[in-house]
Amino acid sequence: MTSGSAQTSVLAPVPQHARIIEFILNPNISTSQLLEVLESIAYSEKILIGFGPDIIELFEKKIEGFHAFQSYQGIGCTIPETQASLAVRIENDDCGKIAKDARELTATLSSFFSIARTQNTFMYLDGHDLTGYEDGTENPKGDDAEKAALISSTDIGLNASSIFTVQRWDHDISAFQKHPQEQQDHIIGRRLSDNEELDDAPRFAHVKRTAQESFEPEAFILRRSMPWSDDKGEGLVFMCFSANLYAFEAQLKRMIGLEDNIVDGLFKFSTPSTGAHYWCPPIKDNQLNLNFLK
Ligand code: HEM
Repeated sequence: MTSGSAQTSVLAPVPQHARIIEFILNPNISTSQLLEVLESIAYSEKILIGFGPDIIELFEKKIEGFHAFQSYQGIGCTIPETQASLAVRIENDDCGKIAKDARELTATLSSFFSIARTQNTFMYLDGHDLTGYEDGTENPKGDDAEKAALISSTDIGLNASSIFTVQRWDHDISAFQKHPQEQQDHIIGRRLSDNEELDDAPRFAHVKRTAQESFEPEAFILRRSMPWSDDKGEGLVFMCFSANLYAFEAQLKRMIGLEDNIVDGLFKFSTPSTGAHYWCPPIKDNQLNLNFLK
């Protein structure tokens, strides 16, 4: 495996703070102008960069297993798509450093891109959702994490790249808290008190809907979700890294009832409001390796 050349954030643990900025490419930009600006991005291990499908298409390239985020109509629930052209995730323990990096990166990109949306996120406890439940327990680890998250290819410009999915969920915590503790545990499928998985969890329990080994083929992803809270509300920015979109889409389709008409318990108190996928190129000599686009 060539994990050494994945962008550092892909396999790193959930950071303390992160800001996600999604940009739309302005019209009538040539590939040579675009390549020049993308090459001028100052990559660092605290910055994750991903390109939307429109950028890949502009360079007349195709990545197997990668495409624009698809919206879905589920059973009584809707999955919106808000695909943009480029995503930057800046992480740091120090929010001032995030502000500085965001200012500098936005200045670099400003002549060719417009900001679609910005979202600040943070770690709660040591990686919990705002409902209180621990998030990330069943993530693959070590080599399994690399296998789930990284594209493996003989093309050096594609190898160790990754697909970054970002989907903001808006919680109604007071609606969640109206359920008695046992029902809250059933919605998630784990016990809040000790994070034990419940054998008798109902079929709508979130971990029953998404149990990665229960899919055929198995559907593993590397989740790195982070809570958010601001004047628009609060919730979870679901984030994951994967080698292709099969696993995420299989889980999502089962969550919204397309497989068996059973909708994930999460929808009792939360709704997704955004959804996008970005291809994160590998790095070489501590710079983005953009050879795949050339
Ligand atoms: C409101 C949004 C969400 C919340 C609050 C949430 C929370 C959780 C929690 C608390 C767990 C149990 C602990 C763990 O293994 O991490 C979990 C598991 C999991 N979630 Fe989510 N999640 C959300 C959305 C999603 C979405 C959109 C997907 C994928 C489409 C997803 C995929 C998974 C997977 C694969 C597992 C592990 C299942 C297993 O193999 O046991 N989650 N989630």
